[in-house]
Amino acid sequence: MTDQIMFVTGNLHKVAEAAAICAPRGIVIVQNDCGYPELQDDDVARVAEYGAEHVVSRLGCAVIVEDTGLYIDALNGFPGPYAAYVYDTIGNAGILALMRDIDGGDNRRATFRSVIGYCEPGVAATTFEGIATGTIAHEERGEGGFGYDPIFEIDGVAFSLMGDDAKNNVSHRAKSFEKFAEWFIRRGMA
Ligand code: IMP
Repeated sequence: MTDQIMFVTGNLHKVAEAAAICAPRGIVIVQNDCGYPELQDDDVARVAEYGAEHVVSRLGCAVIVEDTGLYIDALNGFPGPYAAYVYDTIGNAGILALMRDIDGGDNRRATFRSVIGYCEPGVAATTFEGIATGTIAHEERGEGGFGYDPIFEIDGVAFSLMGDDAKNNVSHRAKSFEKFAEWFIRRGMA
């Protein structure tokens, strides 16, 4: 059985990552770049819920949105839910500068948190979370991926150097989409 779901995002990397998880499970991801207001909130789950409910009220069909936070231990969880704003303002170079004096290993630990908000007309949003724990590198590496990929590593390998398949074996987004896909398929059979 093939089912489809509209994914509201302007980020083609996210669409490709989501499709690689969902396609083998019989779910087709249809991108919609209509945009939505990003709630400023400490919790990315609330940002995803709000975004999904907002889009449903506009489009009138089932949708998913996805929001990611990056939590760096040595910076007390900064930038957290404000990862997009911080990336757009100080970027990877700015994060590396803030962490200049922090030595390696666990001291540079960071966690990505991805939350998918699913919503359909007349029903409150449901969320699906995935996390990936790694470390912030000492320098940017590689050209692949997007956003913080050049500075986020797992077991010493930056997301930017992994290639799509390897990133999808370990990433926060792969985990949230696996949870979503499992639920979406079970629900379709109910
Ligand atoms: P958002 O979910 O698009 O708001 O993402 C917040 C910020 O984190 C943006 O600057 C994204 O580029 C970045 N980001 C989101 N997901 C990833 C990822 O998988 N790797 C690296 N950066 C990411």
